[in-house]
Amino acid sequence: MNLFDVYPLQDVTIVKAKGSYVWDDKGEQYLDLYGGHAVISIGHTHPHWVKRIEEQLEKIAFYSNSVKMPIQQELARKLGKVSGKEDYHLFLCNSGAEANENALKLASFHNGRKKIIAFSKAFHGRTSLAVAATDNKAYTAPVNETDNVIFLPFNDEEALETAFGKHGNEISSVIIEGIQGVGGINVASESFLKLIRALCDKHGAIYIADSVQCGFGRTGKFFSHDFAGVNADIYTMAKGMGNGFPVAGMVIAPKLHAKYFQLGTTFGGNPLACAASLAVLETIEEEKLMGNAVMIGKYLKDELAKIPGIKNVRGRGLMIGFDVSDKLKDLKKNLLFEQKIFTGEAKPNVIRLLPSLALKKRDAESLIDAIREEVAKLEEAPANTEQA
Ligand SMILES: Cc1ncc(COP(=O)(O)O)c(C=O)c1O
Repeated sequence: MNLFDVYPLQDVTIVKAKGSYVWDDKGEQYLDLYGGHAVISIGHTHPHWVKRIEEQLEKIAFYSNSVKMPIQQELARKLGKVSGKEDYHLFLCNSGAEANENALKLASFHNGRKKIIAFSKAFHGRTSLAVAATDNKAYTAPVNETDNVIFLPFNDEEALETAFGKHGNEISSVIIEGIQGVGGINVASESFLKLIRALCDKHGAIYIADSVQCGFGRTGKFFSHDFAGVNADIYTMAKGMGNGFPVAGMVIAPKLHAKYFQLGTTFGGNPLACAASLAVLETIEEEKLMGNAVMIGKYLKDELAKIPGIKNVRGRGLMIGFDVSDKLKDLKKNLLFEQKIFTGEAKPNVIRLLPSLALKKRDAESLIDAIREEVAKLEEAPANTEQA
């Protein structure tokens, strides 16, 4: 049997990882500024994370959500404390798409409505409602098509007011990333998030903060939406939540009430996933990783902005994006194969940095030196070589 070929792969086989480094099958070391797509939050194979999972594995790996599991309560308590949402409730599941799918559904159960507002360039996952709220036709199958999703331009306050003016009492929820990831690192403005809060309150809609990529401390605040100083009704989480162990969830405001059987999952909230996520939260606290994300993120943004050919450096904490000119379109590839540094990209010509929140200053410096060197080579390359 062969693999179902849905991923364009880079020609690298990673076999080992530690902190901000990974190694390939030939023993070559790479600096990881991509974190397997914002997943590695506390560093690859962090010793506390390994120990927590191993200890749990020795006790019990799995039982279904039909019995009491104190480790779920422990995770909820810790998450309340670290995120500051102590009066919210936690629902655990397995992936970002599943978290968003459940959030959109819960909002609709709550207010009995069908319409969803989502934004241009949004990515919310690949399950049927999450993908319907994702602004990319290539990911949507005919069976996912629906008239229930209204797409509006991102950060456009007038368009949002008009949509609520027209459909106010039909809108079930508004779903927005605090910083669009797949869309190219676009930061939701604080006034836009405040307006979403106000309009949802006025019209009885639910504000869903998709924090799958930008949450779990990556920006220096636990949820990046909280820079706006207003609470969302539901925060969805995944990627950084387990540092590579599959775990996701929703943090739900007290005004939304739980009802038996409306939501559920077989694997969500299993003891191993809870142990992994607890290890992440404990390490974020212990190593003050949100502060580190702010400090190293600022250094990277300041230094990137000084490099010629790099434009529009943006983002918060360790979720950073920048545009490169056409001449630098091979920069990501050259960083990987010439400098042995993983970075991410978004089309067209955007490079994304999504490293571990524990990234060290010396590693950030190595990245800047490497980018300077590769930019200089590409800038010097004659036009015909550049096309090769
Ligand atoms: C903002 C956002 N929401 C949802 C998802 C979907 O998460 P998953 O791939 O875990 O289903 C992603 C994945 O990239 C994401 O970036």
